[in-house]
Amino acid sequence: MKEQLYKTPEILSLRLVLVLCSLPPRPSGHPFKTRSNEEMRSLELSGQVGFNSLPHQVVRKLVAQGFCFNILCVGETGIGKSTLINTLFNTTFENEEADHYEQEVKLRSQTYELQEHTVKLKLTIVHTVGFGDQINKDESCKPILDYIEAQFEKYLEEELKIKRSLSNYDDTRVHICLYFIAPTGHTLKSLDLVTMKKLDSKVNIIPVIAKADIMSKTDLGNLKKKIMNELQSYGVQIYQFPNEDEEVGEINSSLNARLPFAVVGSTEDVKIGNRVVKARSYPWGAVQVENEEHCDFVHLREMLLRVNMDDLREQTHSHHYELYRRCKLQEMGFKDTDPDSQSFSLQEMYEAKRREFLKELQHREESMRQMFVNKVKETEAELKEKEKELHERFEVLKRMHQEEKRNLEEKRRELEEEMNAFNRRKVAAETLMGQALQGCSQQPLKKEKDKKK
Ligand code: GTP
Ligand code: MG
Repeated sequence: MKEQLYKTPEILSLRLVLVLCSLPPRPSGHPFKTRSNEEMRSLELSGQVGFNSLPHQVVRKLVAQGFCFNILCVGETGIGKSTLINTLFNTTFENEEADHYEQEVKLRSQTYELQEHTVKLKLTIVHTVGFGDQINKDESCKPILDYIEAQFEKYLEEELKIKRSLSNYDDTRVHICLYFIAPTGHTLKSLDLVTMKKLDSKVNIIPVIAKADIMSKTDLGNLKKKIMNELQSYGVQIYQFPNEDEEVGEINSSLNARLPFAVVGSTEDVKIGNRVVKARSYPWGAVQVENEEHCDFVHLREMLLRVNMDDLREQTHSHHYELYRRCKLQEMGFKDTDPDSQSFSLQEMYEAKRREFLKELQHREESMRQMFVNKVKETEAELKEKEKELHERFEVLKRMHQEEKRNLEEKRRELEEEMNAFNRRKVAAETLMGQALQGCSQQPLKKEKDKKK
């Protein structure tokens, strides 16, 4: 990727230059003396000096640097986000289909470098993935908000750096959010309302009714009215095309009346008569994307790319980013000088902030120490309790062991006595047996003696 092309300060400087060019020149001889407007004298130049070419110099420089534009597409899975972006830029960007089983909403961002004639555009397209697919949709908006704020945060960090380089900063702030509304139903879904309400102070929202070819002209007209009424009654601020400008005021007023744009996307070339046009073909005919009678695609392209691209970039910088920056700096303790109050000293503010920070640090240290002591005490008490339990268990086991030992001793004694008794009986039995055997061996001799007799 080449270096960053978007230079907001340059755009501002171009405007400043134009303003300066329209001011009368300062009186010669007092180049640095400040005078009020009433005192300022105008002077006619007697010939061509050449500073009227300054705007051209700035334009040339900006064209050489290129521009950047970041689009966020928010809409349900498969609602036609990628097709519409492809149709808008008449090219085919990377297109990875999302499935309907995402656990949470994610954002996918891709950056491209485009060139039309001599103008280079660094285009970042951010798509929501899995939007509206979860049963619980409470957190659906959070990743989108986080993404937008993260880009503001990055820019603010760069601005606050000592060695900042905003001139070649890679600006990723979202310039426009195309909010895709489903062409089904009678009006907006609550998810649409909640999301748009949360986003409206952070980004320029342009609502579009997607796949407008699936609705009849009457239904579409009614849906548009209902959506606008609902947005108004819930106080959702959508982007209004500026109509104060002489050059584009008229066209922007007519575009404002067409909101929300009913769009059809298609990258398919269809031959109609002897022309090849982008269209969606059906058995009964073709819906031509660039036909005003069929949908508002050309108006969307007109307003987004051809008329208000710079205004969208400027609104992002001077309105949405400014709001974010103000809140963030106030949070950080910065404050502006009040003309009536004492002059503002950065050094004093730094010292005050430092004191506050040190106090906070001390407070945190103290509470952490206290927490640690409490934790140690708790752990000690727990250990003591455990030790007591173990001791009691040991005592019980010891008693049981002694009891068992006593029982075994008793049994051993009984067994010994039994054994002694047995041995005694055995000896007696053996003696008896011996005597009996002796008696038996003497009996045949006695019988023989008796026979002899
Ligand atoms: P994910 O990125 O997957 O969330 O989808 P997506 O919102 O980018 O939608 P995608 O552009 O991929 O289109 C989804 C389907 O809708 C495709 O089959 C398109 O052909 C169709 N489609 C896109 N635009 C239109 C349209 O304007 N009208 C009709 N009828 N169909 C469209
Ligand atoms: Mg897509």
